[in-house]
Amino acid sequence: MSFWQRHAIFEKNSIVLIIGILVVIAIGGLVEIVPLFYLKNTIEKVDGVRPYSPLELAGRNIYVREGCYLCHSQMIRPLRDEVERYGHYSLAVESMYDRPFQWGSKRTGPDLARVGGKYSDSWHRDHLRDPRSVVPGSVMPNYSFLENTDLDYQHIAADLKVQALLGVPYSPAMIENATKDVVTQATVDSADAADLAKRYPKVLARDFDGNPDRISEADALIAYLQLLGTQVDFKLYDDKANIR
Ligand code: HEC
Repeated sequence: MSFWQRHAIFEKNSIVLIIGILVVIAIGGLVEIVPLFYLKNTIEKVDGVRPYSPLELAGRNIYVREGCYLCHSQMIRPLRDEVERYGHYSLAVESMYDRPFQWGSKRTGPDLARVGGKYSDSWHRDHLRDPRSVVPGSVMPNYSFLENTDLDYQHIAADLKVQALLGVPYSPAMIENATKDVVTQATVDSADAADLAKRYPKVLARDFDGNPDRISEADALIAYLQLLGTQVDFKLYDDKANIR
């Protein structure tokens, strides 16, 4: 019997086949799992990523509530076509305060991991109100009700508390000032803007929805979208981290 004919032992005897399958799967499992125990860290050390401000967190909650993740991913893969289209591939550190994460797996629309700063607030307003007014042929639904709905942020401090329980480093001062910080960030030239920026470095504070008289759901969602992917300054890391 030649070496290859011995394979018949597996084909004729189901117990031997099952044992064979288990051995092969175990080898595959070990190859994948064992190296993880020798990694010092799976999140690279990068400066600049901070927890979401209360307004951004409220916007993120709307993003989750409306199911934006059903059409949009927030993870740029380290592949050339993705990097050329969307920018630097996503780092683990960039979603370390995302509870739950919004990586997504469906791209009916483009990836949003670096959409922050790509468009003006007024573009986002028009686009959310009626996507086809700025992108003819878009299949994205209208979200015009967001600018007409007052943001409900009475529970935002509790929201920060829950995030803190899950490990996001919200300090007692951040939780205490959460409600005030929502108003400050959605207001132009607020007297408390410096205070807010101390808690949330580089925070963008302005009237995102173009209506200074109210804080709408669009204010929160646009504040969140404008932050996405802007926290890490890749110029500092370009040589080491960029894909070539
Ligand atoms: C049915 C699928 C679908 C849903 C749900 C959806 N989108 Fe979109 N989105 C698209 C498509 C398709 C495009 C590309 C055409 C366009 O720009 O409108 C897009 C584009 C975008 C863009 C522009 C991205 C870029 O880089 O040009 C943003 C920002 C965006 N969507 C945000 C959202 C937000 C926020 C939500 C949830 C409130 C949402 N989308 C829900 C399909 C969707």
